[in-house]
Amino acid sequence: MKAFEVKPGVYWVGAIDWDIRSFHGYKTQRGTSYNAYLILDEKVTLVDTVKAGFADEMLARIRDVVDPARIEVIVSNHVEMDHSGGLPKMLEVVPNATVVTTRQGETGLQGHFKADWNFSRVESGAEMTIGKRTLRFFPCPMVHWPDSMVTYVPEDKLLLSNDGFGQHIASAERFVDEFGFEIVMEEAAKYYANIVLPFGTQVQKLLSSLAGAEVDMIATSHGLIWRDHLADIIGAYKRWAANETVSKAVIIYDTMWHSTEKMACALREGLEAEGVPTTMGNLGTSHISDIMTHVIGARGIAIGAPTLNARMFPTVAAGLTYIAGLRPLNRLGLAFGSYGWGKQGVNDIAEAMKQMGWATPVEEVAVQWVPGEDDLARAREAGAKFARAVKGTQTA
Ligand code: FEO
Repeated sequence: MKAFEVKPGVYWVGAIDWDIRSFHGYKTQRGTSYNAYLILDEKVTLVDTVKAGFADEMLARIRDVVDPARIEVIVSNHVEMDHSGGLPKMLEVVPNATVVTTRQGETGLQGHFKADWNFSRVESGAEMTIGKRTLRFFPCPMVHWPDSMVTYVPEDKLLLSNDGFGQHIASAERFVDEFGFEIVMEEAAKYYANIVLPFGTQVQKLLSSLAGAEVDMIATSHGLIWRDHLADIIGAYKRWAANETVSKAVIIYDTMWHSTEKMACALREGLEAEGVPTTMGNLGTSHISDIMTHVIGARGIAIGAPTLNARMFPTVAAGLTYIAGLRPLNRLGLAFGSYGWGKQGVNDIAEAMKQMGWATPVEEVAVQWVPGEDDLARAREAGAKFARAVKGTQTA
């Protein structure tokens, strides 16, 4: 197992998880990596570890450049076990190493591992000298856990960003420019949409604390490392954190006997006729975590479900629960769906949209049984009206 030098004296010693396809419910079709970094300085330092089952891979990569027993400092930027799972094995090798973390990090690590390690708690802006280098710590609570932190190395202009700016990609390449910018950006968007989206205010706070820091490399703890396109990924984080949207729509739905599907298609026709690019997300065939990639930039979100047992169809209920948890703000919503003898499904969707604080500029569209030509014309007109609201040319 090889270590990869990403800056002089700084090595990637992580692990690649080629097989993972579900990351607590997020579909990871490209796998992922757990990126740990080894800094060779007077005090040999390890920043983050890997998921537990990959600790031997990390140790083998460390051994490629240094005896792991020489590690004196271990920075734990984040307690979640994809980054801390390798700590117990690492601390068996170096039981006296200093584990640098936040107050919440110490509590979280003790809660996970019941361990009495040599903790050193850091506050925002705290520094530690490890020789020629300084480690500067920026706790960023709720990006995306209470303990989350990033570590900055000014001498290397290096930001060790943990989950921030990450992507779930397993690859032989280590840098964004080696792998392909467009794919990495799409995966970074999916990652933000499914993990970071609820924490826009906290992301903005972190970006402003880092504003004075000169950075020419962002070494993430998942996926590819940014050594170019930094302005692109930071700009995207600013837009996503501000819930900035464009004149696009997503139609999210499921269907039982194709009635709600026909309505979804008619809505799309109306949206497209008004020039609003529209993405279809059928929850029966697409995973909600993939659909979320489109939700982060779209101003208009139409959600449709048939009524089943006096409730909205369960896949749509699950999708809505997921979306509500991720808290996309400043969206326009449109509820629609078919029903047999009670249209509670559509009403439930409209209510959920109101609870998320979305404006609903167009009245919900409900159709009994199977939509006829007149119903489809009504759905097309609702789609066109919704499109005008999405474009900002009509507010009601
Ligand atoms: Fe990559 Fe929040 O763990």
